[in-house]
Amino acid sequence: MPAVGLGVYQMPNGPLTQRAVDYALRCGYRHIDTAMIYRNEESVGKAIAAGFLPREEVFVTTKLWNSDQGYDQAIKASHASLNRLGLTYVDLYLIHWPVHGKRKESWRALETLYGEEKCRAIGVSNYLTHHLEELLGYCKIVPAANQLEMHPYLYNSRIETIDLCRRQGILPIAYSPLTKGAKLRDPLLVKIARNYGKSTAQLLIRWALQQGFAVIPKSSATARIAENFQVFDFKITPEDMVLLNGLDENLTTGWDPSDAL
Ligand SMILES: NC(=O)c1ccc[n+]([C@@H]2O[C@H](COP(=O)([O-])OP(=O)(O)OC[C@H]3O[C@@H](n4cnc5c(N)ncnc54)[C@H](OP(=O)(O)O)[C@@H]3O)[C@@H](O)[C@H]2O)c1
Repeated sequence: MPAVGLGVYQMPNGPLTQRAVDYALRCGYRHIDTAMIYRNEESVGKAIAAGFLPREEVFVTTKLWNSDQGYDQAIKASHASLNRLGLTYVDLYLIHWPVHGKRKESWRALETLYGEEKCRAIGVSNYLTHHLEELLGYCKIVPAANQLEMHPYLYNSRIETIDLCRRQGILPIAYSPLTKGAKLRDPLLVKIARNYGKSTAQLLIRWALQQGFAVIPKSSATARIAENFQVFDFKITPEDMVLLNGLDENLTTGWDPSDAL
């Protein structure tokens, strides 16, 4: 999976998203992260179909929404996502959320879809330790990835889940890596970022990469889409990584799966 992808949450279905995806591909991004519930799969598909790159060079992730969980519903929902995207397969299909009582059948559906080559890899999102342990007890295919909210303000409190992923060969993907903007002016971040001549957004994306995560910052602004990809020309020192890792405050900027049974 390409290490840095463009997230398209809260971007409208239409030309804005299509242009943002096209621009991201021109900047060097090779991974686009959408979901049925973002309601913009069609625009993502149109940008890919426009053909700046061959389909095989773009890694496309989409997700199964909660109301579509269960075996038959999940199969149906995946076909609908593929239709909206205009694709014959996605590179990664994720269960968006660990819905109690439905997730086993949903996973079985993803295993079927994988066997039918409707998706090149299957994974989960928002699965904490107890959700993963349950899944590892019945799965035939171990998830390729677990997409979780992760940034220095939500790292130590997720460490048990991250370590489990690492031990099982499940790639952690950091979502909301920029804290949805909430912490971009944190004075410590500003100070560290300045030492590298980088923005705080670039520092947070680089932090995720150095943790070994894939990372999917969202922006709909061309300048920031480009900025967020300029993260391969510097390295955070081990000392600064320690400082950043110490910022944990169990900050969730979106849904908190700790409450999911
Ligand atoms: N699996 C899940 O449950 C789940 C949940 C949430 C998110 N996600 C995925 O993760 C992606 C990213 O997370 P997110 O959208 O929640 O938040 P995020 O990437 O942490 O932050 C996005 C916000 O930061 C701003 N921003 C982006 N680059 C910036 C920069 N260089 N300088 C200043 N501000 C900047 C954006 O504004 P502009 O657009 O105006 O630049 C936007 O307001 C989503 O788009 C989605 O694909 C997954």
